[in-house]
Amino acid sequence: MAGNINLHAANKAKKDEFYTQLVDIENELRHYKAHFKGKTVLCNCDDPRVSNFFHYFSYNFEQLGLKKLITTCYKNQNRDLELLKEADIVVTNPPFSLFREYVAQLMEYEKKFVIIGNQNAITNKDFFPLIRDNKIWLGYGFKGGAGHFFSKYEDVATASDHREGMIRVSGVNWFTNLEIQKRHEDLILFKTYNAADYPKYDNYDAINIDKTTDIPMDYDGFMGVPITFMDKYNPEQFEILGICAGNSRLNKFYGIVPYTPHIEDRGGCAVLNNKRVYSRILIRRRKTNPKPVPYEIGELPVLMAAEGTD
Ligand SMILES: C[S@@+](CC[C@H](N)C(=O)[O-])C[C@H]1O[C@@H](n2cnc3c(N)ncnc32)[C@H](O)[C@@H]1O
Repeated sequence: MAGNINLHAANKAKKDEFYTQLVDIENELRHYKAHFKGKTVLCNCDDPRVSNFFHYFSYNFEQLGLKKLITTCYKNQNRDLELLKEADIVVTNPPFSLFREYVAQLMEYEKKFVIIGNQNAITNKDFFPLIRDNKIWLGYGFKGGAGHFFSKYEDVATASDHREGMIRVSGVNWFTNLEIQKRHEDLILFKTYNAADYPKYDNYDAINIDKTTDIPMDYDGFMGVPITFMDKYNPEQFEILGICAGNSRLNKFYGIVPYTPHIEDRGGCAVLNNKRVYSRILIRRRKTNPKPVPYEIGELPVLMAAEGTD
């Protein structure tokens, strides 16, 4: 990849050497199979001797109908750029310490991609606008939002989560700009709004929601939801308007959501009863999304009985 001056040193210091399991690659890429037909795939953070990305694509070359597979690790910046230009789809787990630059390069060269990254990237000032503007979205992900990677680094996982020769990394996800079914599936909501359970922030005209599943089905105003919401985000169901984080004021991430600076907000974090809350994404229900009508529990058997009479 480009801009790799001194990256060897940075890379060592940042603990970027951990390797993806074949099973995790298979679990994610089975949702993208149709995209690979006739395409040149580049895995550009991958030593083919150890990379399971190489193994996955070489084993499945015929089945996917690939045109070409290129697997490289960083050696020659100019050559890397030529290969990037040639590629249709880039698939890898890039060094987390260089994730921002890595994504910027993919966007600059208008590449399609499926890559692993940390969900914290979502709050980054360069990355968030890509998520907000539906240029990048989350893939299917790792079970429980955590992955086990082959690594020699010391693992801090609890005994039940520890796997020999591996490191457990929490908050990892797949990021992509390839169309997937998941992002068209509605999040099923079952709560209804009431002012007591959904207080407004001191500094944003938005209600606070601590758990994605608690998003009320009937609220039309702005809502602040946790970053993990992105895993359930369907752009036909919700629109993303901004983010409340330490850097939102500077970057105007809060967008059109009315905001009044607060002494506690450190540049834009949401504040509730004078206390800062974790980063929140500001969303709103799509107007085109019909308001679901909550049914009474008692109605359900009637519906089932009606079906049974056919
Ligand atoms: C998180 S590891 C993942 C390795 C492999 N993609 C996998 O998933 O098993 C990131 C890899 O990128 C390599 N790397 C670091 N800087 C790079 C650069 N500038 N260009 C390409 N690869 C780089 C690292 O040496 C490391 O092996």
